[in-house]
Amino acid sequence: MQPSAHYKKIVNLLLKQDYLVNPAATAPDKEHKLGSFLQVLLKNPTKASNDVFLITDEFMNSLPISELEKEEKTSVSAPLSEEINTPPPNFKVLINYKERASKQSVDEFVRYYRRRYNSLLQLLKTHNNLNDIISISRIKNMDNKEKVSFVGLVTSKTLTRNNNFSLTVEDLSSSIKIIINKNNNDIYNLAKEICLDEVLGFGGVAGNNVVFVNELVWPEVPLTRELKKTEEEEYALFIGDLHIGSKAFLKQEFENFIKWLNGEGENNEQREIARKVKYVFIVGDLVDGVGIYPGQEEDLEIKDLYDQYDRLSEYLNQIPQNINIFLCPGNHDAVRLYEPQPLLDENFAKSVYALPNVNVVSNPSLINIGVTRENPGINIFLYHGFSFPFYADTVEPIRKEGGLRRTDLIMKFLLKKRHLAPTHGSTLYIPNYEIDPLFINTIPDIFVTGHVHTTHVEKYRSINLLNCSCWISQTKYQEKVGLKPEPGRIILVNLKTRASKIIKFIKD
Ligand SMILES: [Fe+2]
Ligand SMILES: [Fe+2]
Repeated sequence: MQPSAHYKKIVNLLLKQDYLVNPAATAPDKEHKLGSFLQVLLKNPTKASNDVFLITDEFMNSLPISELEKEEKTSVSAPLSEEINTPPPNFKVLINYKERASKQSVDEFVRYYRRRYNSLLQLLKTHNNLNDIISISRIKNMDNKEKVSFVGLVTSKTLTRNNNFSLTVEDLSSSIKIIINKNNNDIYNLAKEICLDEVLGFGGVAGNNVVFVNELVWPEVPLTRELKKTEEEEYALFIGDLHIGSKAFLKQEFENFIKWLNGEGENNEQREIARKVKYVFIVGDLVDGVGIYPGQEEDLEIKDLYDQYDRLSEYLNQIPQNINIFLCPGNHDAVRLYEPQPLLDENFAKSVYALPNVNVVSNPSLINIGVTRENPGINIFLYHGFSFPFYADTVEPIRKEGGLRRTDLIMKFLLKKRHLAPTHGSTLYIPNYEIDPLFINTIPDIFVTGHVHTTHVEKYRSINLLNCSCWISQTKYQEKVGLKPEPGRIILVNLKTRASKIIKFIKD
């Protein structure tokens, strides 16, 4: 079991208080006991320290844990981290994935799909046009021509000889074939967006072991939602794909951006905006990494991963300290490739963790900003975007509109499905979490992605969709696939109006 950051903090505090900590007693599963002990200690330093100086396993086990818990409940309302740091932060990290062992048995995948099905079924049940959902096994016993509604996971999709769509869908009871007729134009066009392994609702007429579908219902996000704002004018700034360490890193442009953030913008308006930036989000590929692709060594200016993160922290250190910085990893960073990608490796990124205003979060993650006593704040959803190329290639309506150049369409597509990677194989993932981590449960206010190295800003049903630029010139891979990057840009969102703005730090 890996010790959590919270746990390490507890142990460090105990050490600072001159307690000797026996490694046997520092197993992370004792986090709770240690935490409770520390609460008492902080409240009344003499009480414990007079009696015990060496914390052993026996001592941990002998702690009157129920009494400590009682004391903790009555005396400490704020979480430990707030008690130790100064003022309470104006943000909350709502979803942050921790490392999990990577056991990937068939059973785990079955459970994973069951969890996905059930989560999306609950969502789809709230849709008006799907109020009489029945199981597929019941449909199979029904008389022909009865109207049916059901929710299924798509396991196959083909075109028949007559160009109708033929799909196999299954629920927890059984599976059935469905037909979407090409003459049913509207539904047929919508069906082009159906991808394998996604869960959606169907309405139609039962036949003999087949359903003729005339209605498709996606989980989607509501058409209208409250546009959440802050009372004060403040800005959130979004960047991604820094690729620090690469020879192609746009050093001069990035340094100009840091200067801009420090109030050296070219006019008063820009300097005023920079002054109001309260949050900076960096959506992965912080460094170029080492050994990410064959022959990368030749493309690296900084060949050591530790040095790449040190360079990153030097830059972050130049960002004004009143700005909260949030970092999630991408596929070039020092963390496993499988999603959810947990926090950056503390060993490699030590200097980044040492910065007081930096918050390291997972990919994906959900962060609530602009929180005050009266205002619930704005939810920022970060996802690096590793699944994007798959949908750009395989979903016809996206491919025809420009593929990877249209990250706005990919983001809408994924929100519609309420999943970051509905098709198995579109990204790498770890199935053994209690929930499906790529299921979009909470609807974000701002959905932020990167990975593609293009810039896109769009509003969809009161959600800001942002695909953050990059700070690296065209890579060999992009040259090969003909993708022109749009580097050297920042995206700003005015949190009082939710209007967004792109500022360029690179000449055409
Ligand atoms: Fe990247
Ligand atoms: Fe990437």
